[in-house]
Amino acid sequence: MLVVKWDFTLKMYHSSLLLCLSLGAFLKWVAGSDWCYTGCEYSPTDWGDLAGSFCGGKRQSPVDIVTSHVQTNPDLLNFNFTNFSSQHVIKTIKNDGHTVKCTLKENEVEVSGGGLNGTYSTIQFHFHWGDTLHHPGSEHTIDGHRYPVEMHIVSLKKGLTVEQAVADSEGIAVLGFFINATEDGDMSGPWNTLTSYLTNDTDTELTVNHAISIDDLIGTVSLTNFYRYMGSLTTPSCNEAVAWTVFHEPININKNLIQRFPAITGSTNVYRPTQALNGRQVFASSATPPPPSHPWCYEDHCMYSPTKWQQLSDSHCGGEHQSPVNIETQKIVVDEHLDTFTYTMFDDKHAIKYITNTGHTVKCVLKEDMVEVSGGGLGYVYSVLQFHFHWGSTSVESKGSEHTVDSKRYPMEMHIVTKRKDLTLDQAIDTPNGLAVLGFFIEAADTTKSSSSSSSSGPHEPNPTSGPTSDMKAWMTLSNSFSAIKNINSEVEITEEISIDDLLGKVNRASYYRYNGSLTTPLCNEAVVWTVFKESVKVDQSVMTLFPTQTGYQNVFRPAQSLHDRTIYASSSAASGPGPIGLFLLLACLCTFLFHLHL
Ligand SMILES: *[C@@H]1O[C@H](CO)[C@@H](O)[C@H](O)[C@H]1NC(C)=O
Ligand SMILES: *[C@@H]1O[C@H](CO)[C@@H](O)[C@H](O)[C@H]1NC(C)=O
Ligand SMILES: *[C@@H]1O[C@H](CO)[C@@H](O)[C@H](O)[C@H]1NC(C)=O
Ligand SMILES: *[C@@H]1O[C@H](CO)[C@@H](O)[C@H](O)[C@H]1NC(C)=O
Ligand SMILES: *[C@@H]1O[C@H](CO)[C@@H](O)[C@H](O)[C@H]1NC(C)=O
Ligand SMILES: *[C@@H]1O[C@H](CO)[C@@H](O)[C@H](O)[C@H]1NC(C)=O
Ligand SMILES: [Zn+2]
Ligand SMILES: [Zn+2]
Repeated sequence: MLVVKWDFTLKMYHSSLLLCLSLGAFLKWVAGSDWCYTGCEYSPTDWGDLAGSFCGGKRQSPVDIVTSHVQTNPDLLNFNFTNFSSQHVIKTIKNDGHTVKCTLKENEVEVSGGGLNGTYSTIQFHFHWGDTLHHPGSEHTIDGHRYPVEMHIVSLKKGLTVEQAVADSEGIAVLGFFINATEDGDMSGPWNTLTSYLTNDTDTELTVNHAISIDDLIGTVSLTNFYRYMGSLTTPSCNEAVAWTVFHEPININKNLIQRFPAITGSTNVYRPTQALNGRQVFASSATPPPPSHPWCYEDHCMYSPTKWQQLSDSHCGGEHQSPVNIETQKIVVDEHLDTFTYTMFDDKHAIKYITNTGHTVKCVLKEDMVEVSGGGLGYVYSVLQFHFHWGSTSVESKGSEHTVDSKRYPMEMHIVTKRKDLTLDQAIDTPNGLAVLGFFIEAADTTKSSSSSSSSGPHEPNPTSGPTSDMKAWMTLSNSFSAIKNINSEVEITEEISIDDLLGKVNRASYYRYNGSLTTPLCNEAVVWTVFKESVKVDQSVMTLFPTQTGYQNVFRPAQSLHDRTIYASSSAASGPGPIGLFLLLACLCTFLFHLHL
């Protein structure tokens, strides 16, 4: 099926005209110069609109390999590489504007075994990289970790032409190798030789005169430790024809050689963002080491309950700046610098990539580098990575927020997790303000008590007890997807329209508390600038109940941690009280869900 993307000028024509024009003359065919990674009409999110493209399909590559979700497959035995050690098979090298491609001599290099169905004839290898600012650029990621570079060795099923191979669901085998940057690796070996051919000239194909083999480039990487899944080409037309092999161990090369890719070619960040698995299974060869297990839980039925999280290896959970905390409103300090936030794309209804059940929470993962938050005294621009929830039991009275205010626990808490835009995730979790989390309390929109008390609320608490302040349709849509992720580690794409603004609704985003803390799950890195909003988001009780019932687990919140030497600050509007104490006490009796500021 062809999907047509019209030129902007065409969109301005009357719609009846469009019908006449859709006869082919204005189709944008997938040709070299039509697409790019950034800064043109067809960047990755629009590749699916290119005519003849499969980029919007359900079996796309690359993907994030979540090691705790992979399944070991005993059929993934050793590979048989033919002529990988030959020093005369690399024929030419060319910068084609999207990548640097090394073409091999025809019919000399082969791959079989490794669980592949038959023999594949290797035709070329090429690279994906980031930029000169040390921004990594591998296409696949492992547990969210992106390596600096990825090398793809491309082979076609033996006997098939390129046209036949792209039409066969396993017509192509790509071997993916991560390339890792070392501080002091060899500067004179095969990678120096290969990168000495790099050029910014996209017209000339250079002949490789040096003796250099594919094995020389792969080095000592274990070829028995690998992942396998069925996917696609990672550039348009993204044909779903690839049996992917991603090797677990990276090739380690000197960072100065890695820098040559962006620096000399002038191309940066030439990688496609990760795509949804859509139910696909990633397999691992038997030799691949099992993932680091996460044997932690919230209750007492596992090896590491919260009081023992600090014993997990590399854990920061025993630190002095841990989260969550109890917010004592008597002790908060007003900070005038805590101004309003700027929210970018919070109203985008297609920003959520997928929703997953991690076994500890329900997490909505957002499309990369799209939704942002800044201001609010943060000092940096932060990219929103995901949001997730903490909840209690199935009981209507259940309380499951992580933060508490004057020891009051709310029914639920939503965490919007963001990362400093100028850092990689690995850097961010090691930097005191590398992450910023926005915490929103969630409680029931109580329809029975609402009308009597809302009229007497103070000026700083607009409609605290009226009906839902958020868009209930968005919450219903979100919770409807829970039935598809009942199994732990399952995920599902969200195709219906939901924005973060829809979920937050009219909640006051100017009144908030601020402190320095940590992630609230292992490894509890002390990298988080916390914002906890004073006003709660109001949703229907029935929606809240779906969290414990559909996932099957309850009370997923960490107990409050000691403040130690920390101070909790507040924006000026969060510090102001709700009015005379007498009136407040009266209100507190009427409606227990007001903030207990003066108790
Ligand atoms: C590996 O490939 C070579 C050449 O195609 C072949 O002779 C050999 O039998 C293969 N070995 C295995 C273990 O498949
Ligand atoms: C390996 O390469 C040599 C030449 O270097 C060639 O003669 C031989 O046929 C190749 N092997 C295969 C299986 O293609
Ligand atoms: C292996 O490939 C052949 C054709 O090349 C095909 O007929 C067969 O079904 C494939 N086997 C599997 C297990 O996919
Ligand atoms: C990647 O390189 C760094 C040094 O730059 C090293 O600490 C790390 O262990 C390497 N990663 C792997 C998986 O080899
Ligand atoms: C290409 O690189 C050469 C140096 O190797 C430089 O002089 C030239 O300006 C570059 N061209 C472009 C278009 O960047
Ligand atoms: C967080 O810590 C930094 C120093 O690492 C400090 O400058 C900042 O004021 C602290 N913020 C809060 C809210 O305590
Ligand atoms: Zn590639
Ligand atoms: Zn959380």
